[in-house]
Amino acid sequence: MNLKSVITLHTGREMPILGLGTWQLNNDTASTIQRALKLGYAMIDTSGDYGTQPGIGEGVRKSGLDRSDFYLVTKVEEDDIAYEATKDNLTELHLKYADLMLLHRPPRYGVGDGLWRSLIKAREDGLAKDIGVSNYSIEQIQTLIDKTGEIPVVNQIEWSPFGHSKEMLGYCQENGIIIQAYSPLTRGERLEDPTLQSIAQVHGKTAGQVLIRWNLQQDIVPIVKANQTEHLKENIDVFNFELDDNEMRKLDHLNEEYSSLGSHQLSYMR
Ligand SMILES: NC(=O)c1ccc[n+]([C@@H]2O[C@H](COP(=O)([O-])OP(=O)(O)OC[C@H]3O[C@@H](n4cnc5c(N)ncnc54)[C@H](OP(=O)(O)O)[C@@H]3O)[C@@H](O)[C@H]2O)c1
Repeated sequence: MNLKSVITLHTGREMPILGLGTWQLNNDTASTIQRALKLGYAMIDTSGDYGTQPGIGEGVRKSGLDRSDFYLVTKVEEDDIAYEATKDNLTELHLKYADLMLLHRPPRYGVGDGLWRSLIKAREDGLAKDIGVSNYSIEQIQTLIDKTGEIPVVNQIEWSPFGHSKEMLGYCQENGIIIQAYSPLTRGERLEDPTLQSIAQVHGKTAGQVLIRWNLQQDIVPIVKANQTEHLKENIDVFNFELDDNEMRKLDHLNEEYSSLGSHQLSYMR
């Protein structure tokens, strides 16, 4: 396993095993993207509502990479006219297609099957290679599948040892849906946890690196946001150690369905 490793989606296409988040990366997005790509990051996560798409477009252009050398994930909002929003995203990014286009969250009413059909059409028209969802519960995903026959390739959800769900993991594994873990570092809020710290110490690693590793070892794809170069470097220096079963179990047991996003409830558990 290394930064260029990939995971195979149920469509047969491949996705990098670790991504760079860009929410609140507002100051110098283009330069952060350039630095990250130079360090070897291969996947970038954004959304129509992050305000980072123009900077990402600029960063990838300036990096001089071929389009096939990086994987781009973006999202449409629940109140968007989804097909148009996919095009608007690509215009902001100056890209012809997204590798993965997600429904950012379920709408207030229903499960968004109309939005989902728009994403299916966007994929058929070549605007996205694959499509998925974010912040969906098991019931919402299943209803979406029952109504449309189309299984999302990923569910992007908040996921850390402090907030995760065995049921969600089992459901996704059974259906070939990859979990993308957002806020995998708990936005910095739980890095001082004593259990986490003691495991990090054993390996001579940081708490953040242990959190990333905990995801990777379960085939969960962490999307980690970092602006500072030291953080960017640290978060990919995770391929030279392994958590043993006992350490994985200890981390699993930290679960308290914790969310670092203000609502203090995991979106997919509501
Ligand atoms: N689908 C959704 O609804 C949704 C919701 C939330 C997030 N996301 C996506 O997931 C990404 C990641 O989640 P997030 O931004 O909420 O939180 P996160 O990745 O858990 O944490 C980011 C914070 O941790 C800091 N950090 C990064 N590396 C660190 C390290 N090695 N040691 C200590 N601190 C470190 C960053 O600082 P610096 O920036 O200063 O380096 C930043 O303040 C987002 O950027 C976004 O792309 C999606």
